[in-house]
This record gives sequence, structure tokens and C-alpha cells, in this order.
Amino acid sequence: MSKPVGKVYLVGAGPGDPELLTLKALRVLESCDVIVHDRLVAPELLEMVPAHVERIFAGKRRDFHFLPQHDINRLLVELARQGRTVVRLKGGDPFVFGRGGEELETLVEAGVPFEVVPGVSAANGVGAYAGIPLTHRDHAQSVLFVTGHTKHGEPDLNWTSICQPRQTIVIYMGLKPLRALCARLVQHGLPADLPAAAIESGTLPEQRVVAGTLASLPDLAAKVAFDGPVLVIVGSVVSLRDRLAWFERPEHPEVSTELLREYQDH
Ligand SMILES: C[S@@+](CC[C@H](N)C(=O)[O-])C[C@H]1O[C@@H](n2cnc3c(N)ncnc32)[C@H](O)[C@@H]1O
Repeated sequence: MSKPVGKVYLVGAGPGDPELLTLKALRVLESCDVIVHDRLVAPELLEMVPAHVERIFAGKRRDFHFLPQHDINRLLVELARQGRTVVRLKGGDPFVFGRGGEELETLVEAGVPFEVVPGVSAANGVGAYAGIPLTHRDHAQSVLFVTGHTKHGEPDLNWTSICQPRQTIVIYMGLKPLRALCARLVQHGLPADLPAAAIESGTLPEQRVVAGTLASLPDLAAKVAFDGPVLVIVGSVVSLRDRLAWFERPEHPEVSTELLREYQDH
């Protein structure tokens, strides 16, 4: 008799700080058989998972994919067909520049049941830890999430809808094309002195923030050898950092995983 098909949980791990994991995600991680995870998932999260749970690293780093997307899709189907409960754990939220939709389409075609557990996306988590509210009644009435990643190098975006007043622009994967992006935003009407920031490894103890303007940010960012993931936020809300950047203040306690461990022990 063939084994019943298992199930895949597509789970968002949040942007870095392990305590930003949802309770539902933690419950699913504790009860699954195998985890297929990305590079952006905090190692502390994987340490909290019971030892018997198999961990498979599916990778992904800018310009270098450890497992091609179609192999990841196939792997999820194969694991579920072995009757296992699979967690596909992705950084941030799986439906925000996470290819979560593509992975689920393969599961639908293969008849594999699934559930989605949303996560805190980088825009929300990193903005919060950098002291940058994405909307504010005095600054921005709308917020746009865009990707700077393109197959051919040059950002290909709808500049007219992006370059609107009183709007915050959050750019995922925007470090490499930062100079071109800032230039296009100014060319399409945003002021060169509009505040802009690049935040590396947001929500983690090693978070670094470079803040300037559309004119100065590319040079400022080039001086810092960013190595981790970087989120770019453009808009006058960035100026609020001067008063709201709580996470970088020396009196703020280190991010710790203790609370989450306590929760698990009960
Ligand atoms: C492939 S996208 C995945 C986004 C993810 N699904 C989310 O909802 O946050 C990866 C990009 O997200 C951004 N990112 C993710 N985590 C970040 C962090 N902790 N700090 C800064 N940027 C981050 C960076 O722009 C990075 O290149």
C-alpha cells in the first residue's frame, strides 16, 4: 500500500531576529519531519527545532543559487510524497519577493496539500528596527514594495507610479543597482535631497544603517562594505530615524532568543 501524501507548510521566518517568528510558525517547526530552508533564515531558529527533524539547505545568495528553483519545487513534492510533513522555511514573508507562489503552484499541480504561514517581511521588520515608520500622517500616505533585482542589470520599474509625492518606496535587493536606482528616481521627478537609507542585516545585532539622500546614498553605501542582505528605504519618513532609531541606542538590550526558548520549555 502506498504511503499517504504528506503536507507542505510554506512558512515565513521573519527578517532575522528569531523572536519575530510567529507562534504558528514555531508550532509547525516543532511538529514537522523535515525543513527545507533558505540562507536568510536565522541559524538560531534552526537550533530551536527538535534534533530529529531533517534540515535541507536550499540556499540562494545574490547571483549564486545553491539549488535551482525547479529543483526546490521538485524536492518539496518528493518529500511530501514520502508521506512527510515538510516545512519550506523562507526569510521574511514567503509571498513577498519570496517565490512562494511559484512553489505552491508546483504543489497544486502535483496534488500535494499545503498551508501558508505568513512571516514579518523585511520592509516591516527592518523598517521598525531602523526607526523608520513606513507611513506617517505628516510624511507618507502610501508605501510601495519594489524589487531592484532584474535579469539584465538595469532596473525595469514603473517609474511614474514609483515617483509620487508623499510615498515611501521600499526596495528589496536594491544594493547592486543602487546608483542606477537613485539616478532614475531623481530623473523621474523625486528631489535629489529626498532622504534615503540602506539597512544591512536589519533586526539583527549586526544591523548597520547608512542614511543620506538620493544624491548621497550611493557614495555613502559604497564606502561601507555591506556583506549581509540590504534593504533600501526612500522617502521623507527616513528623516524620522533621528528620533526613532531605538534599536541602535546603546541602552537597548541585545536581541536574545531566551524568551523564545522559555516559551518552548513550557
Ligand atoms: C529574495 S528577497 C526575500 C524577501 C523576503 N521574502 C521578505 O519578505 O523579507 C531578499 C531581500 O530581502 C531583503 N532583506 C531580507 N532580510 C533582510 C534583513 N534582515 N535586512 C535587510 N534586508 C533584508 C534584502 O533586500 C534581500 O536582498
